[in-house]
Amino acid sequence: MSPFPRWRILLLSLLLTCGSASAADRSVPAAHAPAAAVQAQRPGHAAIASANFRATNAGLEVIAAGGNAFDAAVAVASTLSVVEPESSGMGGGFMAVLRRASDGREVFIDAREVAPAAVNTKDYLNSDGTPNRDAALNGPLSAGIPGEPAGLAWLAEHYGRLPLKQSLAPAIRTARDGFEPDSRLRGAIAERADDLRRWPASAAKYFVDGKPPAAGKLWRDPDQARTIELLAEQGRDGFYKGEVARKLVAAVRAAGGNWSEADLAAYQVKERAPISVDYRGYRIVTAPPPSSGGVAVAEILNILRGVETEKLDRAHRIHYVIEAMRRAFRDHNDYLGDPDFVKMPLDMLLSPYYADGLRQSILPDKATPSSMLPSSAARDPGPHTTHFSIIDKDGNMIAVTSTVNYTLGSTFVAAGTGVLLNDEMDDFALVPNKPNVYGLLGSTANAPKPGKRMLSSMTPSLVIGADRTAVIGSPGGSTIITQVLEGILAFIDGKDASDIVAQKRYHHQFMPDRVDVEPGVFDAATTGELERMGYTLHPREPWGFMNVVTWDHRDNKLDAASDPRRPSGLGKVQ
Ligand code: GLY
Repeated sequence: MSPFPRWRILLLSLLLTCGSASAADRSVPAAHAPAAAVQAQRPGHAAIASANFRATNAGLEVIAAGGNAFDAAVAVASTLSVVEPESSGMGGGFMAVLRRASDGREVFIDAREVAPAAVNTKDYLNSDGTPNRDAALNGPLSAGIPGEPAGLAWLAEHYGRLPLKQSLAPAIRTARDGFEPDSRLRGAIAERADDLRRWPASAAKYFVDGKPPAAGKLWRDPDQARTIELLAEQGRDGFYKGEVARKLVAAVRAAGGNWSEADLAAYQVKERAPISVDYRGYRIVTAPPPSSGGVAVAEILNILRGVETEKLDRAHRIHYVIEAMRRAFRDHNDYLGDPDFVKMPLDMLLSPYYADGLRQSILPDKATPSSMLPSSAARDPGPHTTHFSIIDKDGNMIAVTSTVNYTLGSTFVAAGTGVLLNDEMDDFALVPNKPNVYGLLGSTANAPKPGKRMLSSMTPSLVIGADRTAVIGSPGGSTIITQVLEGILAFIDGKDASDIVAQKRYHHQFMPDRVDVEPGVFDAATTGELERMGYTLHPREPWGFMNVVTWDHRDNKLDAASDPRRPSGLGKVQ
């Protein structure tokens, strides 16, 4: 039997090639004809917004030394691996959307982790067949083969101006000389203390005299300094072969994991065509599978395109956005996975005709219970995953979202490497239709297989208009997609970078059937009206942390803003 319901096959058979969101050959990245204003101009300055001021300053240092936005991205990401290990790092992976000014090339860089060859779904089940959440989230079985080091080497080699060694220098220096950990890192270590103590190399790295590092004291990471130095000297082989690879595999196997040196040597960065969707005079360039983010954002915008939002009051505008989110997340659960392994009906999902059908299923004045939608649970987003945005003086731009998955990843540090491994295996549907840590459900499309990439919500995006451009993204587990969507809508509505990152947010992900709201996002009248329409509003904290760079082509002005929910972040123009 076909995996797709009959009505969707009928829609699919109606599709023409004139979709306003393009899924054209996803495997071949295309140079995109640049918008005239973007092509003609150079900002003359650079702007970076990241979740940590040391990382932003590392990127600006590399730009001052003659590097471009892509060299800066290497400096920012590697420094975050040292100063913000709770969110991303060498033991994790990233996804990026970039635009090269010289030829308008737009490409998605997929440095996502992959499952090791010996992956076995039984390892994630208890003896009674129930999901083993500990194996999925903690220790070496929860870790995919990292993509971050290969992705950074790829960026430097294919898009950068400087040698990798120069772009990695600030991270090596910071790890070797030490830095004062911020309250968020100290809080993350305290939160995950019990799990960190299970692994001797993790305890040795993250505790000082048995306690999380104290405020105002220098904290050094010499093992990670050495690992990044080998990457700097030897390129990707410095991590995926030789001393580091041997130590990673030995540590993983000694603690019950199943990596091999062949898994590391085989890791490949993938370049893919981004998803491009037009909305209200802007072109949004965003993440394709194995992220679900771009498909969901495109689906939501295609639904909203046909709604005369200007004629609606706030509550009814929000109603349509929530209903569009609900339908996009339903499709996330049903269809999406690694494009190298599963066939996905992307032409259908990105088609305006499909969006027309979904829009017509929205009642003008009433919430649709998720249980009423044909189809095949959430935890608050903590301090995990990170996003940064960069535009350089030539107009090169890059949006990078990077992660080790949950706070401090698997909590497992591979002895002798300083590398904290991710727990990205939980982003697979390890047990079909059982929620992962973000309450996301999944089907066989996202089942683990050797060498397969687990589905992500990461949604690094460019929003390109004739007058204004934004580089945008956010961490936040499943809420990444809706936070980025709300940021894109705010930018298109004319808001500036500071207002976009500060605005309060809301989220719906099909299941659980409720609207997660940041306290204060809706006034009393809107709240009352939404409840009358049948929505359950569920207060949620924390949100963020979004980092946005904007470029106004009319006065050639750059702006950079870091989420105020994260005091150690920095958006800076230089
Ligand atoms: N690990 C979170 C994500 O990739 O969506």
